Amino acid sequence: MIILIGGEKGGTGKTTIATNLAAMRALAGRDVLLIDTDPQGSANYWAQSRDEENINPRVACIQKFGKGLPKEVQDLANRYEDIIIDAGGRDSIELRSALVVTEKVFIPIQPSQFDIWTLNQMDELVETAQSFNPNLLAKVVISRSSTNPSVNESSDTRKLLEDFDNLHLASTTICDRIAYRKAAKDGLSISELKPKDSKATKEMELLYTEVFGDE
Ligand SMILES: Nc1ncnc2c1ncn2[C@@H]1O[C@H](COP(=O)(O)OP(=O)(O)OP(=O)(O)O)[C@@H](O)[C@H]1O
Ligand SMILES: [Mg+2]
Repeated sequence: MIILIGGEKGGTGKTTIATNLAAMRALAGRDVLLIDTDPQGSANYWAQSRDEENINPRVACIQKFGKGLPKEVQDLANRYEDIIIDAGGRDSIELRSALVVTEKVFIPIQPSQFDIWTLNQMDELVETAQSFNPNLLAKVVISRSSTNPSVNESSDTRKLLEDFDNLHLASTTICDRIAYRKAAKDGLSISELKPKDSKATKEMELLYTEVFGDE
């Protein structure tokens, strides 16, 4: 399966979600490739630190930039069971071209900075991509949400999303938890972190199931 984690807003947790899904996919025994299309290279650094620490399973990661991305992704899809593309937080040639070859795009968004304009743009980008890629499914993931139960940001977001024709709300919400930062620093996924954060692990597993289904 080819999955894209993208969006036009910076710092929403795209790389965190992409790296966690990639490691979980590898832990499930799948042959997965993480493609970092962001010049900042955070996903690539994460995979490198995994290699330096000899963490098993290895997560293969490459960096790819520019217009040639769709062709390369299609070619790589013959060699890997799954491809997870991490696109940087801005409108870029990589984001637009990845939308053409991906099956599902997940767009993390922070509810506290909910930015209707960014999603308007994404809605349009998805619509344009769907003329070449009619089966493209686009889901918005509420990410870095408050763990405080009195802050009910998700329902407001759900209402706002009704205005977009091409964007659907993912059923899983990812909360802002220190454990994600700790895991990322060591090249780990949340499920490999010790001591375990069971709430974080559970929500990322739910997202994993939502992304990959029973495959
Ligand atoms: N769920 C989370 N809980 C706690 N911290 C998080 C979470 N998600 C991301 N972060 C932290 O927030 C910062 C930005 O996250 P990340 O790099 O994943 O975002 P991004 O959307 O890929 O950013 P960019 O747009 O710059 O590529 C990082 O320091 C990361 O560790
Ligand atoms: Mg990133």
